[in-house]
Amino acid sequence: MCGICGVIGKTNVVPQLLTGLRNLEYRGYDSCGVAVIADGTIHLRKNVGAVEEVEQKEQFQELEGFIGLAHTRWATHGGVTRANAHPHLSCSGDFALVHNGIIDNYRPIKAWLKERGHQFLSQTDTEVIVHLIEEYFRESGEIEPAFRKALARLEGSFALALISTHDPHTLFCARQESPLIIGVGNGNMYLGSDMNAFVEYTREVICLEDGEYAVVRRDGVTIRQMQTGKRVVRACEQMPDEGYTINDKGKYQHFMLKEIAEEPEVVQKALEIEDEAIIRLARTVAQSAHVYLTGIGTAFYVTLIAQHYFARLADRYIPALSSDEFPFLAQVGRGSTVIAVSQSGETIDTLRALRYAKERGATTAAVVNVPSSSMVREVDQAILQGAGPEICVLSTKSTVSQVIILLRVALELAVLEGKLEARMKEQYEQELASLPALLTDLIASLPAQVRVPAYEYAKVHNWFFIGRGVYSAVALESALKFKESSYLHAEGMSGGFLKHGTIALIDETTSTAAFVPPPEEKELFALTLSSIQEIKARGGFVLGIHQEGDGSEEKFFDAEIVLPAVSPLVAPVVALTAGQILAYYTALALGRSIDKPRALAKSVTVT
Ligand code: AGP
Repeated sequence: MCGICGVIGKTNVVPQLLTGLRNLEYRGYDSCGVAVIADGTIHLRKNVGAVEEVEQKEQFQELEGFIGLAHTRWATHGGVTRANAHPHLSCSGDFALVHNGIIDNYRPIKAWLKERGHQFLSQTDTEVIVHLIEEYFRESGEIEPAFRKALARLEGSFALALISTHDPHTLFCARQESPLIIGVGNGNMYLGSDMNAFVEYTREVICLEDGEYAVVRRDGVTIRQMQTGKRVVRACEQMPDEGYTINDKGKYQHFMLKEIAEEPEVVQKALEIEDEAIIRLARTVAQSAHVYLTGIGTAFYVTLIAQHYFARLADRYIPALSSDEFPFLAQVGRGSTVIAVSQSGETIDTLRALRYAKERGATTAAVVNVPSSSMVREVDQAILQGAGPEICVLSTKSTVSQVIILLRVALELAVLEGKLEARMKEQYEQELASLPALLTDLIASLPAQVRVPAYEYAKVHNWFFIGRGVYSAVALESALKFKESSYLHAEGMSGGFLKHGTIALIDETTSTAAFVPPPEEKELFALTLSSIQEIKARGGFVLGIHQEGDGSEEKFFDAEIVLPAVSPLVAPVVALTAGQILAYYTALALGRSIDKPRALAKSVTVT
């Protein structure tokens, strides 16, 4: 959700800024801009569009300077216009600022500044910050006190960075509820929303915490608390090598397809995560009076899938709550544990849920893909997925990895609680071990079943995705993947729920994708087929996603996606991947912007 990059060096920093900008684009891509200081003036170029497009329009590479800022935007306040793109300048043009987050009280500040003669060019909340700093600078003639005084007036969430011609050797930055880190390396200093801003130049990082600001010069960094001005001493950390963006699609047309193709490897990695970390979390769950799972979007659906695994394998009901609603429902305190799931580790709704739990004394844990993320630093126990960078805004490989990790925790919990015999555990482990090969075959063969029919699926504007039991969660996730990739309306729900209202919408213009469980799951299988018959009876088109040889296709489907016959333990993962492939080819048939769908961003850092 908006990407910030800043660099100060002893040579022209524009190439580094542009690399950072490209690597941060997944955080937002409606407009972008660059500002540098050269010859005592701030030179600013910005425009509407994705980074590559704006680079061409604005010829960023013509800029030169030893200090600069870059920003890629995901609009919150104010439409997608050049004026609303960052960086923003103060009236004098002596200050330039970039921001990620939302300033809740920007209206009264704007009114106050207007009374003092400030002129605004944008509709953004961000622009008030740079004018406010300018206003306070007029009083004191010093940047740092003006910066701090302005920060004290801001309410809301922000990561921000400032440059000024009054001190062209310094980057000023601050963090409150939005991520911001400082990179140290090669005689340069960097700022970034995350490691991707400077990963090609350094892995040495100083992390800012909420409520802190920093004054960054080439020869050092001074961190202070915003409220008290008290100095904070923080050492550099060496970040691990994995988990950052590499903008290389290889032989694939889209990152989404590349990342789906990486699923066998990612599952293998999830299976190889040290037992110790998995058992530690299982033990924490076993010892906790109340446990919650939380996440949002796809990560929430992962927790719903995990909820079924915990119930089924370990006989333990662990409620899954969408992290945005978590504080309004969860009863947490000492003795409770909250397990969050997040690819980015920066999703503000999920961070807030964890902070809410922590403040009340709960133990916090998270399954996260990005090692340098805020969530990894904040929780008591983090399990790193090691799934490698996921560039496509749609989660695919990280989703299956998260499911496998939580499934492993459920298995260990079952053992700890005496719910699973050693023989059964061994069998389940063998089934899991066979999954990478199964997925390899599926990913190679399924496109032949989906690619051509997808042109017909693309013509249907209203879709329902249904399933029973764990497949209701698979249906919810597959519907989300389908709508965010294709922009077609898709609603996921349990098959049983359909007849309580939504069935009124079923007619010959609607299609339903139905996930049929393996026939061994007799009750779920029968219930799913009943739901399908109810749809057929009302003239609805049914795309059955079912296992080979299960007999279900004989009577019911208008179209089918046939999956290999696999055990009930791993079948939901196979179904998830099938849902992703269906979404991909439907979006491809429609010519959608698959890796960067409209209005979305990879890392959602605003509430
Ligand atoms: C997934 O395809 C979505 N783009 C989105 O729902 C995502 O899963 C959600 O924003 C949570 O992100 P996180 O895993 O980084 O916390």
